[in-house]
Amino acid sequence: MAIIAPSLLSADFTRMGEEVREIESAGAKVLHIDIMDGHFVPNLTFGYSMVKALRPLTGMVFDVHLMMTDPLNYIENFAKAGSDIITVHTECDSDLGECIDLIHKCGKKAGLSVKPKTSPEALFPYLDRIEHILVMTVEPGFGGQSMMPECLDKIAVIKSECALRGLKTPVMIDGGVNAGNVKRAAQAGADMMVAGNAVFGAKDRAAAFSELSESSEICIKK
Ligand code: DX5
Ligand code: ZN
Repeated sequence: MAIIAPSLLSADFTRMGEEVREIESAGAKVLHIDIMDGHFVPNLTFGYSMVKALRPLTGMVFDVHLMMTDPLNYIENFAKAGSDIITVHTECDSDLGECIDLIHKCGKKAGLSVKPKTSPEALFPYLDRIEHILVMTVEPGFGGQSMMPECLDKIAVIKSECALRGLKTPVMIDGGVNAGNVKRAAQAGADMMVAGNAVFGAKDRAAAFSELSESSEICIKK
């Protein structure tokens, strides 16, 4: 079964605490938290104070996705705030090796992400040093977009390179996951899937979360 990680970006901002508790009760183990700086992407979201405020409310893994031009300057604060996985983009301006080292120095798992137009090979120089891979299946910046299914082909390329190196790094996809494409994404090999609108856009978040989780399981069993 793929791990479905609800994305806080689509939650009701007037009741963040309740949203987080509700989604954890529904069975979510990982919460995806999108940090946008208004420069790397044309949108702004939260800072580390949001991560810090939510940390005591839940035991979920905080998967923090930094869509920032200069993530190196912010890694320590996001680590201190209670992130578990910190992902930076291969397309950012910071030195990726320094980012990975700093994330590790802070005792956190390091992730690298590729935007839709970036080739999966951009990850290869760092594959032996990271614990998490994030393949964007929409242009980052906004929730509620349609998945670009061609991005799913990157998963096989990444996984075969990982296999050559004896690595089992989980590959997460991010963007446009919904009940209509979750099976296809699982077939393509996604181990983890972010789901924003498909979970928090539903009236019954628990039912939406279960449907996505179960659909990914059915597919793998076939
Ligand atoms: C997009 C973000 C995603 C977003 C996904 O830039 O990185 O994590 O929350 O939302 P949905 O699932 O609605 O596409
Ligand atoms: Zn994200």
